[in-house]
Amino acid sequence: MTLWGGAFSSPTEDAVRRLNDSLRFDWRLYDADIDGSIAWARAVADAGVITAAERDTLADGLERIRLEFQRGEFVSAPGDEDIHTAVERRLTEIVGAVAGKLHTGRSRNDQVATDVLLWVLAAQEKLTSALTVFLAALRRQAQNGDNLVMPGFTHFQPAQPITVAQWWLSHFWALVRDVERLETMAVAWRHKCPLGSGALSGTPYDIDRQRLAESLGFEAASPNSLDSVADRDHVADFLYALAMIGIHISRLAEDLIIFANPSFGFVRLDERYSTGSSLMPQKRNPDPLELARGKAGRLIGHLSGLLATLKGLPSGYNKDLQEDKEPLFDAYDTLAALLPPLTGLVNTLTMNADRMRAALIESMLATDLADYLVGKGIPFRQAHGLAGQVVRLAEQKRVELSQLTLDDYRSISDVFESDVVKVFDYDAAVARRRASGGTGDTERQITLAESWLKQRV
Ligand code: ARG
Repeated sequence: MTLWGGAFSSPTEDAVRRLNDSLRFDWRLYDADIDGSIAWARAVADAGVITAAERDTLADGLERIRLEFQRGEFVSAPGDEDIHTAVERRLTEIVGAVAGKLHTGRSRNDQVATDVLLWVLAAQEKLTSALTVFLAALRRQAQNGDNLVMPGFTHFQPAQPITVAQWWLSHFWALVRDVERLETMAVAWRHKCPLGSGALSGTPYDIDRQRLAESLGFEAASPNSLDSVADRDHVADFLYALAMIGIHISRLAEDLIIFANPSFGFVRLDERYSTGSSLMPQKRNPDPLELARGKAGRLIGHLSGLLATLKGLPSGYNKDLQEDKEPLFDAYDTLAALLPPLTGLVNTLTMNADRMRAALIESMLATDLADYLVGKGIPFRQAHGLAGQVVRLAEQKRVELSQLTLDDYRSISDVFESDVVKVFDYDAAVARRRASGGTGDTERQITLAESWLKQRV
């Protein structure tokens, strides 16, 4: 059975059929396709196109097909071009000729647009909860690191001391933005149900599209049928959101790869989350983190690939749009496979407080030295210069800042007094930065993170 062919006198070439067929990947839309078809059967029944009894027969048959898919019992037939064809073919086998009434006033163009949108909405919810579990692991580690101090970097050079919590939370809040981005996008997606757009020009039957949209969990029907059948903005949105998640996870992974390097030794990965080398017995490789970093490239690729597919399409549906599915599914699968092992990796890694503290160097307090002078009334710009001279003198004498004598300090500025030694306290430097968002404000951030998470479980 095919859904078309009345006007054709010869069958499709096998190679063309193989190129055209999409069931091998779009079978994953079966739930959405069946939901959409049941909703459509109700809408055409309400419009008086089919009887209530026919509607019920169609809905029962469709539910049976859903069960076959769920149980892995669905058997495809040679003519099953795509999920829509496969479902209608099977429906015909189950309920007979009345199956032929289901597609009245509908096209595969509005059908596939609806299916993909429903799939994206469901995927968004699943991904959001997997991300939330990952975020809980980051928050837990932030709590463990609330009193630990480590070097903070800019340009990957020693910059200022921060708490380990501040570092974990920096990744936490980036991923919170990603979850919120997805949630905001989903609100917009729920306002444009495409069903009832027909092939391009709308449906000639008296369909209440608002009611139809609501029956599928949407807030509103799309405003224009021609736009609607070709609109894949939600796929681009979703792929962008996933690429950003990939980028954020990749940056976290890169930090952890560096920190797990024995030259740093800030963290140690649990053995279950690292791998060995076939040649070098001492190796503990952070493979899951490297894969997280690597897969970000793949996610970015899916976004740019889809954008290139969309660019330059003439109005209405074009078969190019079938190319939306493989990147969409793969991007989702990539993150769905990545998040659970990364959650385990974060939950089980241990932090080495001694190594982190040992990596602190007093020149990371040079800003605090300038602030000390500001406290004595020196304008910051001048204080910055004087503190720089102190750093240089310490370098020349090959000593730490605190090992310079008071005379050394006073040779640079007589504003320095014996209380300058108080500057050389990493914990105090951290605690001073208690203005909201600073590294001295992590306790409040941790509470905020906790309540953010609570709202989502
Ligand atoms: N498999 C197609 C897709 O994914 C379904 C829509 C086909 N529409 C058409 N007019 N041939 O885009």
